[in-house]
Amino acid sequence: MSVELKLSDATDAHVIQNLWPLYQHDVSEFASSIPNRHGLFGVDDSVTTLAAHAARQARWWTEPGALFPYLILADGRPAGFNLIAARACLADAIDADFVVHEFFVLHAYRGRGVAEEAAVRGFGMHEGTWEIVTYPTHARAIAFWRRVVRGYTSAYSEEERDHPWGRRVCFGFDNASRPSEAGPQETVRPAPETAADTVRGRRCCDTGGGRA
Ligand SMILES: CC(C)(COP(=O)(O)OP(=O)(O)OC[C@H]1O[C@@H](n2cnc3c(N)ncnc32)[C@H](O)[C@@H]1OP(=O)(O)O)[C@@H](O)C(=O)NCCC(=O)NCCS
Repeated sequence: MSVELKLSDATDAHVIQNLWPLYQHDVSEFASSIPNRHGLFGVDDSVTTLAAHAARQARWWTEPGALFPYLILADGRPAGFNLIAARACLADAIDADFVVHEFFVLHAYRGRGVAEEAAVRGFGMHEGTWEIVTYPTHARAIAFWRRVVRGYTSAYSEEERDHPWGRRVCFGFDNASRPSEAGPQETVRPAPETAADTVRGRRCCDTGGGRA
């Protein structure tokens, strides 16, 4: 099965947005979250439709160089997404150049190596320090990330701790010294902060709490 990690744009952002509620429902098992009065996860009652919910996510497609919404394709069909955030869009309390902010593979593609390939390709696209966190009760994700990160680099950390997003199992590593895994695609380094960004306090662009 061919696995592709495609940086989504205006032409296919809707695919990620269509998959989003499936992801949120899966993760609600570990986040112990319930939907609002309109059946939508992660938003207050003022948001009433999936279209309005999707509009709230537009930032993923308007911060090039800081937010990277990758669509995972398996044999050309949507299989999930790997949403990566860079330092410029992370809270100061998160000490990493890149974070796997949201990560999802559809049931049909689980246990088939699709998630691992999509994760490793994502790492290869960006050089720097990385953080990946998941819920302490999410045994499948912990086993998955432990295997994937350990296979990617021998120099990694794993600890359960209090994190800005809550209690999490946290994986960390630095791939700046690794040769790029990105093949012909360009590797992205963390964008330097501009004085204007700092003055406007734009470091955290409120993508919502990550779950990956
Ligand atoms: C988390 C996710 C990306 C993993 O992808 P996947 O294709 O299911 O992962 P894999 O099958 O390659 O690996 C899963 C690992 O968990 C293990 N596992 C599966 N079910 C498990 C369970 N109930 N308890 C403990 N371990 C479990 C598997 O044995 C495997 O580990 P191993 O290779 O060491 O044996 C995918 O399940 C997913 O998208 N889940 C919903 C979204 C989500 O939770 N996202 C957050 C990710 S942090």
